[in-house]
Amino acid sequence: MSLQGAAGAEELVFYVNGRKIIEKNADPEQMLLSYLRKRLRLTGTKYGCGGGGCGACTVMISTYESTSKKIQHYSANACLLPICSLYGTAVTTVEGVGSTKTRVHPVQERLAKCHGSQCGFCTPGMVMSIYTLLRNHPEPTSEQITAALAGNLCRCTGYRPILDACKTFCQESACCQSKPNGKCCMDQEDDLFDKREKVCTGLFSTDEFQPLDPTQELIFPPELMRMAESQPKRTLVFRGERMTWISPVSLDELLDLKATHPKAPLVVGNTNVGPEMKFRGVLHPVVIAPARVLDLNLVKCTDDGLTLGAACSLTLVKDVLTNATSEFPEEKTKIFRAVLQQLRTLGGEQIRNVASLGGNIVSRKSTSDLNPILAAGNCMLNLVSRGRKRQIPLSDIFADGASNNTIMPEEILVSIYIPHSRKGEYVSAFRQAPRRENALPITNAGMRVLFEEGTDIIKDLSIFYGGSVSTTICAKQTCQALIGRYWNEQMLDAACRLVLKEIALPGLAWGEKVDYKKTLIVSFFYRFFLEVLQSLKTMDPCHYPSIPMEYGSVLQDFETKMPQSIQIYQDIEPGQPPQDPVGRPIMHQSGIKHATGEAIYIDDLPSVDGELFLAVVTSSRAHAKIVSIDTSEALKGPGVFDIITAHDVPATNEFYYSNEPEIVFARNKVTCVGQIVCAVAADSDVHAKQAAAKVKIEYEVLEPVILTIEEAIKHNSFFEPKRKLEQGNVDQAFETVDKILEGQIHIGGQEHFYLETQSVLAVPKGEDKEMDMYVSTQHPAIIQEMVSASLGVPANRIMCHVKRVGGAFGGKLLKAGLLASVAAVAANKTSRAVRLVLSRGDDMLITGGRHPFIGKYKVGFMNDGRIIAVDAKFYINGGCTPDESVLVSEVSLLKMDNAYRIPNLRCWGYACKTNLPSNTAFRGFGFPQSALVTETWITGIADKTGLSPEKIREINMYRENEQTHFKQQLDPQNLIRCWNECMEKSAYYSRKTAIKEFNKQNYWKKKGIAIVPMKFPFGLGTRYLSQAAALVHIYTDGSVLLTHGGIEMGQGIHTKMIQVASRELNIPMSCIHFCETSTTTIPNACASVGSAGTDVNGMAVKDACQTLLKRLQPIINKNPKGTWNDWIEEAFKQSVSLSATGYFRGYNESMDWEKGEGQPFTYFLYGAACSEVEINCLTGDHKNLRTDIVMDIGCSINPAVDIGQIEGAFVQGIGLYTMEELNYSPEGVLYTRGPDQYKIPAVCDIPEQFTVSLLSSSQNPYAIYASKGIGEAGLFLGCSVFFALRDAVTSVRNERGLKETFTLNSPLTPEQIRAACADEFTEMMTNNGSASSTPWAISM
Ligand SMILES: Cc1cc2nc3c(=O)[nH]c(=O)nc-3n(C[C@H](O)[C@H](O)[C@H](O)COP(=O)(O)OP(=O)(O)OC[C@H]3O[C@@H](n4cnc5c(N)ncnc54)[C@H](O)[C@@H]3O)c2cc1C
Ligand code: FES
Ligand code: FES
Repeated sequence: MSLQGAAGAEELVFYVNGRKIIEKNADPEQMLLSYLRKRLRLTGTKYGCGGGGCGACTVMISTYESTSKKIQHYSANACLLPICSLYGTAVTTVEGVGSTKTRVHPVQERLAKCHGSQCGFCTPGMVMSIYTLLRNHPEPTSEQITAALAGNLCRCTGYRPILDACKTFCQESACCQSKPNGKCCMDQEDDLFDKREKVCTGLFSTDEFQPLDPTQELIFPPELMRMAESQPKRTLVFRGERMTWISPVSLDELLDLKATHPKAPLVVGNTNVGPEMKFRGVLHPVVIAPARVLDLNLVKCTDDGLTLGAACSLTLVKDVLTNATSEFPEEKTKIFRAVLQQLRTLGGEQIRNVASLGGNIVSRKSTSDLNPILAAGNCMLNLVSRGRKRQIPLSDIFADGASNNTIMPEEILVSIYIPHSRKGEYVSAFRQAPRRENALPITNAGMRVLFEEGTDIIKDLSIFYGGSVSTTICAKQTCQALIGRYWNEQMLDAACRLVLKEIALPGLAWGEKVDYKKTLIVSFFYRFFLEVLQSLKTMDPCHYPSIPMEYGSVLQDFETKMPQSIQIYQDIEPGQPPQDPVGRPIMHQSGIKHATGEAIYIDDLPSVDGELFLAVVTSSRAHAKIVSIDTSEALKGPGVFDIITAHDVPATNEFYYSNEPEIVFARNKVTCVGQIVCAVAADSDVHAKQAAAKVKIEYEVLEPVILTIEEAIKHNSFFEPKRKLEQGNVDQAFETVDKILEGQIHIGGQEHFYLETQSVLAVPKGEDKEMDMYVSTQHPAIIQEMVSASLGVPANRIMCHVKRVGGAFGGKLLKAGLLASVAAVAANKTSRAVRLVLSRGDDMLITGGRHPFIGKYKVGFMNDGRIIAVDAKFYINGGCTPDESVLVSEVSLLKMDNAYRIPNLRCWGYACKTNLPSNTAFRGFGFPQSALVTETWITGIADKTGLSPEKIREINMYRENEQTHFKQQLDPQNLIRCWNECMEKSAYYSRKTAIKEFNKQNYWKKKGIAIVPMKFPFGLGTRYLSQAAALVHIYTDGSVLLTHGGIEMGQGIHTKMIQVASRELNIPMSCIHFCETSTTTIPNACASVGSAGTDVNGMAVKDACQTLLKRLQPIINKNPKGTWNDWIEEAFKQSVSLSATGYFRGYNESMDWEKGEGQPFTYFLYGAACSEVEINCLTGDHKNLRTDIVMDIGCSINPAVDIGQIEGAFVQGIGLYTMEELNYSPEGVLYTRGPDQYKIPAVCDIPEQFTVSLLSSSQNPYAIYASKGIGEAGLFLGCSVFFALRDAVTSVRNERGLKETFTLNSPLTPEQIRAACADEFTEMMTNNGSASSTPWAISM
């Protein structure tokens, strides 16, 4: 059937939240996400990545199957779901689940009340994943919950509170019953609670939760059922601007279509074709959607195996295989089990629910987790084309071009046959990924061996690997060579040598992690060897040797368990009035709105009439002259309105915050890949992006190109000034020490990965050059300043508004200002409203992140562990513009002592100027790096002295009132209390002994434990940076409108400010409203940074409220029994002003860098964390078993918010130190531009046991209500996991006789762990050099 012959374009009929949608012009290129957001104005479903990797866009799809009469619900990523695939389905979005206008659904209520949302951007996606789970399983198990959330990322909460909310739906006990005495792990009073203190553990009360009532849910639309039953199925055709979608219903039609359009892809889940079109610009004029063809949905069980239709979703495959494993004897289901093993961690549930088995196979990606095992398992493909049917072994489709058996363009894969395993056959599948769940594999494998009957002589062997080269590869020669061999050590040796020789990984194109992949290739085989040996032994214990006891545990993979967690905080004083909310775990003020999707972010704002969308064009060279910019093709694109360059900037294009500029548009040259050169304004984001791709820029490369810190040192390329701190006499001290340790550590950068990408809406107001700027920023004043300077208008014409920000972490300061200028210049030129929302890829490419860092150190110490002298140099990779790099290097110097007294210290800080995108502020601001350097040499001293790291820490910890290295006084009492409590609560020493025992009994798995103290100085270094203002209006109905200069970006500042106002005015929180932060209400507000928001704005709010109360006092005194409303009414009548500003001048902080002395901080937070991990030495994988944190945060204003900050920061720290790896090409191009390549922690990464205790009886005289600013500190404690991993690696190395100290860089990824666990397999790599000397990626 030809396209021309197909019926005319159809109406697309589906339902959204119970409402019928008839789309007459369905565009096959349109995904459900943009349709919901732009067309239906349902903005609750969020954009986080566009590629299926973050879950922010999760919706529920419901279908009705007329033959079985079954309704099915499944979660899916709206960003990859073509609307054309939705014919006859019902879509439920977060708005359809519940809303404040109708009824808030129990899922939404509990997520909010359990404090499961901070910035709230991921929350609708979380709600939808949980909601869908509950529709299918109203009383889910904990495994079902963790599986349902595996595809949803949250950058703020650390997941614990989200899981707590989910647990409330579980019937099973939250108790682990793991204690030997049958006691629950939650039952830890003995260890955890100090009986003298009145402490609380609950952050929410389940009593107030509505019950889940499945009868209240939206029903499946009866009309869709009628449609499915009464209307004969017919071919559907949808035509868009560039693409036609044809969905046939019979195999014959499908074959005809495929014959006519051999190049047209078959789209089922669109999880492969979709990302190719979006991210690689592939355009398919015709796509064929075969999902409705029955033959492709077949599930057939025969005596010898299973036949599954190619369009079966991976979830269905999983269900069918799970059933089969319980129906058939184990002997027959070994292949099924191995496939299931891979399916458990393949993608997230949203992906598995739509991705098809055929799609995974046919796309032949090297990262397919199924192909290696299906190929090894002798699975067959049933292929059909017009007039021809054939069955081929699946393994043939990877043949290296020699075989004729590859799938022909006109052929359709109809089904896959998965055979039963046979007697004497053993099958296994393996994978290692950067993250255990929802991450493409680095390497995977499928292996099968068949023995001669009753022997261990190999009759048939099949080994396939994935992840290594461009497709699945077979170790054919190895397998052939091993046939006839016994399954013994000699065979293993030969196999490893042969397989390494055969699977040659070319070094360049696939050069990523070559040695690691090769190590995995042999390690996987070794594991298979052990598994098979063990099975042989079980079957015939007399004949076969058992594997050594200590090898057994490696045969168990790590699993994600529902974490058990406890939060401990001090109760409020007994005399505190019940209506006073301070000190109570109050829910985030926007919590419910986050969960219902009603919370508005920039891109949720309705479009303004005539609005244009902006797409930026960025440099593809790291250092080059711009020879020409050719915009002619781009300007011809549909919907294109204009192209904006540096020439269109009316005034300032270059901002000098130091002696080198921050640049809005590159003018004559570019200094990094990702620098904005120009921007296309068009009538839609799609048109703007299409045109942006057509802008041609000609470059002339300039020398030098400096990318790494080493290159910057070589070229003496630094931002000035360089900084130094010195105390004591370092040189002399080195002469007195027993030993000297020298070394260096590299700490990689970190991407902010706020879930809401950088977003701006610039709206010219049409007169007096006024412009409204709606920006996702943590610093509205700098937006106002930069936009007004760019446009050359006074600041009083630019109004910047921020309602909330979907995560920032330091990344939405100057970078947001530059992007706001880009949008404002475009709005000014076009006189139209302009929206600029960066795609995830552009955001990661353009906006920089945490500075990569090299710490070089020389440390002198005594044999008893005392540190005498430190000489250190810190280099940070600042990128191409200064931003705040010098400040970051200063802070890294000021905080480098962490918790230790270092009598003689010299330390230099250098901010390197390179041709990378400019790096910027990031939670912790230099401290997480410099303190990691300190903790690294502490561990080094432990290695050298033979003392334990905790002993070295204790010996050198600040003990009494003393001075820091810049002569600021500190009282470390609470540091010591935190340390001691953490020791006690974590039962450190007894667990250390248990770990030692475990390590003795396990060879390939090891545990490690570490406890790390922390001193976190609070302050911004200068008084004016911590000034703050507030404005409080009381209206005549008694309601209060509060505003201040702080930005709500998830840290709950508005909630806390309302708590402050409520206490001061003595009125319920419900009377107080916060609308937005704006430059019109609070001028010149300082940035919300450095954990200071609550401290400084709290003071200002308190001040304003006290002013108002003072004015009201005479009225209250006259009528003490009156109500708030009475007093306000009276005040109005008496012409008492009901509006007041409040002000806080800032902390008296200063630092004299010439002298190296000062009081740059106001007070210190303290903490300690103890973490325990387990590693798999064969793969480098690890599991976070337990973390106990004790933190001194003064008197918490809101323990739920503060504990949330600690946990969220801690998990972000786990990401920094153990997972998040940015990869740049040798040309300076960032490879890692989305959640598919850059892995932030997911649900599977949080500790199985997670306790956070707030130190009791801690007072802070310097901040509001004796609290302490807590936003950043917890991040550093993530390094306890880093050092626990190091501890585990140390015990591996000790056991292998490797006694010398070793350095581990950050992030401590599975690759590094595997390499550090040196053994015979890593040894093989030393003699197996990579094919190319050009690295695939370089370390910045
Ligand atoms: C976020 C994310 C995470 C992922 N994680 C993993 C992972 O961990 N492990 C893993 O293995 N995979 C992973 N994948 C890949 C995913 O499993 C595959 O993309 C998916 O299985 C492809 O199926 P589909 O139906 O979506 O394919 P589509 O995109 O619809 O089509 C895929 C291709 O296969 C062809 N095709 C499909 N069906 C047929 C047929 N019947 N006959 C002939 N040709 C056909 C099409 O022409 C097309 O070229 C991930 C994907 C995403 C987006
Ligand atoms: S936006 Fe769809 S998964 Fe990230
Ligand atoms: S609350 Fe999850 S990303 Fe912010």
